[in-house]
Amino acid sequence: MKSRSVQVILILMVLSFFLIHFHFPHCSNNAPTEEKPSPVHILILSSWRSGSSFTGQIFSQHPSVFYLMEPAWHVWVKMYQNSASVLHMAVRDLVRSVFLCDMSVFDAYMSSQKKKSDLFQWETSRALCSPPACGLFSRSDIIPAGNCKILCGKYPFSKVEEACKTYSHVVIKEVRFFNLKVLYPLLIDPSLNLKIIHLVRDPRAVFRSRENTKADLAHDVNIVVGAWGLKGEAELYKAMEVICKSQAEIYKTGRQAMPSFLKDRYLLIRYEDIVRDPLARAAQMYAFAELHFTPELQKWVHNITHGKGQGTQAFGIGSRDALGVSQAWRKTLPFEKIEKVQNVCKDAMSLLGYRLVQSEEEQKNMSLDLLFAQSSPK
Ligand SMILES: *[C@@H]1O[C@H](CO)[C@@H](O)[C@H](O)[C@H]1NC(C)=O
Ligand SMILES: *[C@@H]1O[C@H](CO)[C@@H](O)[C@H](O)[C@H]1NC(C)=O
Repeated sequence: MKSRSVQVILILMVLSFFLIHFHFPHCSNNAPTEEKPSPVHILILSSWRSGSSFTGQIFSQHPSVFYLMEPAWHVWVKMYQNSASVLHMAVRDLVRSVFLCDMSVFDAYMSSQKKKSDLFQWETSRALCSPPACGLFSRSDIIPAGNCKILCGKYPFSKVEEACKTYSHVVIKEVRFFNLKVLYPLLIDPSLNLKIIHLVRDPRAVFRSRENTKADLAHDVNIVVGAWGLKGEAELYKAMEVICKSQAEIYKTGRQAMPSFLKDRYLLIRYEDIVRDPLARAAQMYAFAELHFTPELQKWVHNITHGKGQGTQAFGIGSRDALGVSQAWRKTLPFEKIEKVQNVCKDAMSLLGYRLVQSEEEQKNMSLDLLFAQSSPK
């Protein structure tokens, strides 16, 4: 009797040994690391006019990615009387819901009669231009927003959620976060597997681009710096000051990887580095996001960074001479304006590796490289 039960116990032990080691190899660690759920959630955290539409497209066109550009635009439009910091929590909540493919969160900000095409910049999402969100393209196609907008508008809003649930990666681009701490709850949320790509750009180039798109940005500027009651140029520089401060703060927190839940979940990318070597930077971002860089996408990334357009539209990302566009401010921005931007942004610039120019000669001397390695904050 006794030896019989010892036998049974032995058999059970042997069986469980095999089950644990051969069926669930990851359970055999003595101290198992926390398993994150399988969808990967990527937040492209950036600011206005910093190349984030372009970077967003690098993700949107990937066949494994469900992408939304600026979903929190709806929050800011609906609650325009508030400041950016008041809206932080609503923006965070919306971003979390979208990552989890729960699109009911838009009920608070859009009409009950909403269609897929009421979603801000929906046509920039390849996932919303292919099955199950639209039957006229295939999921592996590179789909230009213009074509999608014409052909894929008339689908119900429920298609957004249905499509989202079929992807292994959800990527959101947002310019409406001004610090990283707001995102801590999402980083420790066990239902999310969040990684942050922090995209920055030379503030002088940002400034020039903002000047050229003033009307498009007026609504957002009011939320960012409206409380100061400034007008004209003064408001422009105040906006730059607020943006530069917040970008520097985000970088300092992210680079120090303190607290530890940020470790391996924060990647800084400078727009100028993408422009100088688009393929290498795309490869780096895809690797960080656990995405395969297909040969088709490699060709496409090369194509869109070696075109001729000057990229003047507010939200356009046509084929363009990316390198030329990124340096255009040096030829067109008056030196007095550069000095003012440098004055409000110098801390962020030295941290992120943008060299200040001391004279108009330096500004116009194109053999003077203004990019250096970004410093590691202590
Ligand atoms: C790249 O551009 C060429 C020439 O315009 C075009 O024929 C080709 O389809 C493009 N490839 C991709 C992947 O976009
Ligand atoms: C332009 O910058 C380069 C690199 O710093 C320097 O060697 C050169 O002398 C400069 N040219 C002029 C005209 O200042």
